[in-house]
Amino acid sequence: MFEETKKKVRKYLSNDIGIDLGTANTLVYIAGKGIVINEPSVVALNQKTGRVVAVGTQAKEMLGRTPAHIVAVRPLVDGVISDFEITEEMIAHLLRRAEEYLPKMLGPRVVIGVPSGVTNVEIRAVRDATKNAGAREVYIVEQPMAGAIGIRLPIKDPVGNMIIDIGGGTTDIAVISLSGVVRSKNVRIAGDKLNNDIISYIRSEFKILIGEKTAEIIKMSVGNVVPGEPMEASIKGRDLITGLPREVIITDSDIREAMSQSIESLLEATKEVLETTPPEILADVMSRGIHLIGGGALIKGLDTLLFDYLKIPVYVTQDPLTAVARGAGIIIENLDGFEEVLILNEDELPRKK
Ligand SMILES: Nc1ncnc2c1ncn2[C@@H]1O[C@H](COP(=O)(O)OP(=O)(O)OP(=O)(O)O)[C@@H](O)[C@H]1O
Ligand SMILES: [Mg+2]
Repeated sequence: MFEETKKKVRKYLSNDIGIDLGTANTLVYIAGKGIVINEPSVVALNQKTGRVVAVGTQAKEMLGRTPAHIVAVRPLVDGVISDFEITEEMIAHLLRRAEEYLPKMLGPRVVIGVPSGVTNVEIRAVRDATKNAGAREVYIVEQPMAGAIGIRLPIKDPVGNMIIDIGGGTTDIAVISLSGVVRSKNVRIAGDKLNNDIISYIRSEFKILIGEKTAEIIKMSVGNVVPGEPMEASIKGRDLITGLPREVIITDSDIREAMSQSIESLLEATKEVLETTPPEILADVMSRGIHLIGGGALIKGLDTLLFDYLKIPVYVTQDPLTAVARGAGIIIENLDGFEEVLILNEDELPRKK
């Protein structure tokens, strides 16, 4: 009985949160409540004062539309912190907003996901940024592990689970068994690269310049990595020769062509991971399939293409963009149960790489 009460009190007082610190989007999960913040990883700064003007959705709306002294920046590039101070400011801002949902007794305990294969220096940077932003304790987990937990794969069992997390900056390919990452690969080919591929293709084929936002929209609407029902869209850009606005029609086949090299590299990278996976675990993966998470999981046709290439079943997770945050949340709600997946401290737990 007493134990029950203690549990309830602890739950009431706890302010534990899970964070998916993504290149494109940052999500905050509050223990017992779920995801309360889901916003683009963008910070708008006033360069005259050095002050943060806006964070998240508000800041993203300012991208490309700011007066000269206000710049909108993405503090994470290729899945890693490129600007330490701005990242810290962004986390601090999000923690303050999360506090609306929390009892403000102590700084929160935070589980935060990092891409697989990051260096100790990068882990320290994430840990310090989160601590300086007000966290009482910080636990680091590799994003593919958090994602696998988020989609409830049996990561603690002695079976191979394979997950591919295609985000904005990085793609993490990982095989997990017995709470550990058995094989993994992290490539800097993901949503941002595909947007840039589309920009380059349209520049060279149509001689017009389009912005990143337009590229992303057509990737989502017209992009399909396997030929299917024909699709087209009209896009506006700046004519490279006249400098004036011009409109062109692009088709799914243009976008497929634009993305083909990057998609090929993703297939190759997946194959490389499978080639070095121990046979027993490989057999598990072949029967249990590959799970796609992250925004890139929604690229049309990618599951079919992967299946055709590898002959292994491929599943697109429901709600792939929130998998890592849900996993970080499950971990913080049950820290004792997930101790072995955490990178506690780089000195305590020497990393393999
Ligand atoms: N329907 C869709 N089709 C294709 N791509 C999509 C779709 N929806 C989102 N994306 C892409 O997914 C990416 C964002 O995914 P996600 O939020 O998982 O990344 P992230 O976790 O912030 O990045 P990272 O894990 O690399 O740090 C963006 O590049 C976006 O364009
Ligand atoms: Mg991610």
